[in-house]
Amino acid sequence: MKNYIQKNEWNIIEEDFDPHLNKISESIFSLGNGRMGQRANFEEHYSGETLQGNYVAGVYYPDKTRVGWWKNGYPEYFAKVLNAANWIGLDITIGDERLDLFTCKVINFKRILNMQSGYLERLFTAELKSGKQVQVNTKRFCSITSDEIGAIRYELIALNFSETIHINSFVDGDVKNQDSNYDEKFWEEVSSEITDDEAYLTLKTKKTGFDVCTGISTQILLNGENINSDFEPEKKEKFVGLRTSVNLNQGDALTIFKFATNVSSENYEREHLLKTANANITEAAAKGFETLLKEQSDAWVEKWKESDIVIEGDIAAQQAIRFNIFQLFQTYTGKDARLNIGPKGFTGEKYGGSTYWDTEAYCVPFYLATAPQEVTRNLLLYRYKQLDKAIENAEKLGFKNGAALYPMVTMNGEECHNEWEITFEEIHRNGAIAYAIFNYVRYTNDESYLKDYGLEVLIGIARFWSQRVNWSADKQKYVMLGVTGPNEYENNVNNNWYTNTIAAWCMQYALEVAELVKANDPQKFAEMAKIVSLDEAAEFELWQKIVDNMYYPEDENLGVFLQQDGYLDKEQILVSELPAADRPLNQKWSWDRILRSCFIKQADVLQGFYFFEDRFDDEILRRNFDFYEPRTVHESSLSPCVHAILAAKLGDEKRAYEFYLRTSRLDLDDYNNDTEDGLHITSMAGTWMSVVEGFAGMRVRNGVLHFNPFLPEKWNSFSFNISFRGAVLNVRVSKEKVRIINHSESDISVVISGKQHTIQSDLTVMP
Ligand code: BGC
Repeated sequence: MKNYIQKNEWNIIEEDFDPHLNKISESIFSLGNGRMGQRANFEEHYSGETLQGNYVAGVYYPDKTRVGWWKNGYPEYFAKVLNAANWIGLDITIGDERLDLFTCKVINFKRILNMQSGYLERLFTAELKSGKQVQVNTKRFCSITSDEIGAIRYELIALNFSETIHINSFVDGDVKNQDSNYDEKFWEEVSSEITDDEAYLTLKTKKTGFDVCTGISTQILLNGENINSDFEPEKKEKFVGLRTSVNLNQGDALTIFKFATNVSSENYEREHLLKTANANITEAAAKGFETLLKEQSDAWVEKWKESDIVIEGDIAAQQAIRFNIFQLFQTYTGKDARLNIGPKGFTGEKYGGSTYWDTEAYCVPFYLATAPQEVTRNLLLYRYKQLDKAIENAEKLGFKNGAALYPMVTMNGEECHNEWEITFEEIHRNGAIAYAIFNYVRYTNDESYLKDYGLEVLIGIARFWSQRVNWSADKQKYVMLGVTGPNEYENNVNNNWYTNTIAAWCMQYALEVAELVKANDPQKFAEMAKIVSLDEAAEFELWQKIVDNMYYPEDENLGVFLQQDGYLDKEQILVSELPAADRPLNQKWSWDRILRSCFIKQADVLQGFYFFEDRFDDEILRRNFDFYEPRTVHESSLSPCVHAILAAKLGDEKRAYEFYLRTSRLDLDDYNNDTEDGLHITSMAGTWMSVVEGFAGMRVRNGVLHFNPFLPEKWNSFSFNISFRGAVLNVRVSKEKVRIINHSESDISVVISGKQHTIQSDLTVMP
């Protein structure tokens, strides 16, 4: 665990430069706007340890699968969001000395991520070997109002010298992915062009053939006056640069403005890329840095109005929750239904930038409450559009008749994950996709989604489950063999309670939705049934039979559901009995030892309690929680939030808060020693859930918002904004009262701690 980030309510601040922490900071201070993003690499050259990272959403490469022993059904490739052209580069040479913070003496240094206004700032004073000192102040951002634009202001003051300074403002496309399977570079050059103060580089991805044109323009000012630099063009393979030199006198201030754009063939005809990039750059430069920054800041103010959580009395917690919300919105804005949320967002390469079940299980609740409805709808449409591929995925594994198995990891709907125990067995992901449809409709009441898209997806998923189970003559029940539950620390188990539960629920829900659509729009239902060749009578009967006769492993003595048939055969040891030196297990134990142990990576049975809480009373929840939590090592960042919410439901405020702490500063304090790989973006939504669904106990029941709040002991109050069916509410929980402000025109009914209230504009209750 690290503790070098300064606590501040709106800013993430690093003071003093420690090269050992640089890769961690590069992740933490990342920027993004949903369309493109980047790690917080330095503009000037840096020869120390760094992970260069620039990403363009949706642009990926199918990196050929690498496994020791090929098994039928393995995906051919693992799609990767590519490290793309570096557009921030400003190479600075003073006399004949290159400015490089790794080799200079860094006299002072400060890096600030301003979350309120959405920009990254860096200030430092550095001394070169010759004793020349420069003071630098840089600001940059990826615009969320014009999401193909990035901008930099780089100010440099010659503190104690007069000298010629050489600048190269460049785009470097000669980059590679650190996680490349065969050490291959994924980009080829298509063209490059340099005109006056603009440079363009168009690259194409190998195999997938995405073209991305990256353009820059550069302006240079000396002591505030625009100097008409004659840039000398520099072209190399996959590289364009604008070189110039300026004579500085001691005390002179040099300002470099750099505007950049990334435009891709995903959004424009290839032959228009250069023209579009040029138009973007021209517009950005004409507006100027300050205007763009003002637009950026105004847009973030609006975002915060919908989504902020204010915590009084605990700056570390306040900073952390804002950081989580900020990074989520930097990753996904919901404007484009072709995009999704990779577990590392634009902050690193791990997980390939692809889509996991994390989106449906964890991110959907966040976006439902904090962003316009279309944002979540787009996340659902993403899967709807990939239904054909999900059917193909299932066919590859031997399923038929339109059964759909959504991939565990994907970029375009095809499965990319190539560990058999996950690809073939971690099929519970299919359930999360159905659950997200349910969650969306429960929250928004947008039933039209069901008839237009949802039902078709649900039928494909229900068909899959109905083929994946088998009748056990021994148990006289339907069973599901050879699966991996959310707990990836055991594989190939039989009757994982969570998987059986969500499978049966999916079939039940598909039946209910079919009834609803049929009743409300029989014609639409008939059309859809024809498209998917539904044999209504036979298929529905089978689904219902499976729902009624599903097997759920349970231990009557302990009064708990069993994670899987063989779970109690395992030696039962508690996490508290493990020596500290053995943790984390995934770094210290052999995989074999982990698989045979009773230790649970992340919520599994408890994930089912979270999704289906209304089915179980608190007594049975408590028994299961008390049994499973002490066996859970939380080695997935997705785990603690579910425990926080359930602990809160059980009134265990202390433990709810402890679990919350584990997620909220996970990356800021580098708890798991892995922040340098990138941030845990999807689990950040879990942090939000811990506050809103945990501490505030927010639920939607029968179209009505319910709250069952408590205030963590350390806090004076917390408040959050949510949107619900056209209303924008601010909910504030303090020691003595709960106050809800209704910012919308119409009244809204809510239930607080079991009592119904109607809120016109402002309501205060003392629960
Ligand atoms: C977790 C999965 C998750 C994936 C991506 C894994 O470590 O076990 O549940 O989907 O990470 O976040």
